[in-house]
Amino acid sequence: MIDVIEQKVKHKLGAHEMRLRHVYGVAETAQKLARLYHVSEEKAWIAGIFHDIAKYDALEDQLNMMDLRWIKAYVDYPVIYHAIAAANILEHEFKVHDQDILNAIKHHVWGRKNMSTLEKIIFVSDYCEPNRGFEDSPMIYDMATKDLDEAVCYCMKASMDHLIRQGLVPSEEQIEIYQYYQEVTRGESK
Ligand SMILES: [Fe+2]
Ligand SMILES: [Fe+2]
Repeated sequence: MIDVIEQKVKHKLGAHEMRLRHVYGVAETAQKLARLYHVSEEKAWIAGIFHDIAKYDALEDQLNMMDLRWIKAYVDYPVIYHAIAAANILEHEFKVHDQDILNAIKHHVWGRKNMSTLEKIIFVSDYCEPNRGFEDSPMIYDMATKDLDEAVCYCMKASMDHLIRQGLVPSEEQIEIYQYYQEVTRGESK
């Protein structure tokens, strides 16, 4: 099954070399963190390699892979569509029904409250995998090995700061999720 999934990824992202390297980077980083946190390395690898599969699909193709409910919910934030579409492709085309893998893919852009360990691992790995070339990647990875929630919080703040620098406004949902993880790291929420 993993072979077939990998072939699909190579086929779809083959023309996007940087993206292909990114998804392998996420899969490998996630696998290492999964080993550390005693969650399935196989699940981490699958979620990592597949999370951006729909990134270059035409909007129409992404929408075709989604329920109206999701389309409406993120109509102002179509950046989320590639994540929902990827989870649906994995479920419908490859019959992967593991909700933890599907949720990790679905929520890789903003995260969500009450993420599972696997979801947090994918969220953080997406940000700190080495091929992305961010200066603070090694520091974030190191942080993730010590305190996953702290690393989640850091990545959320960094991606909102990135939006703000581009003159964009983070969504209310994104801010709420960030505030939730701030509370978690302060020991106020669970
Ligand atoms: Fe993505
Ligand atoms: Fe990604």
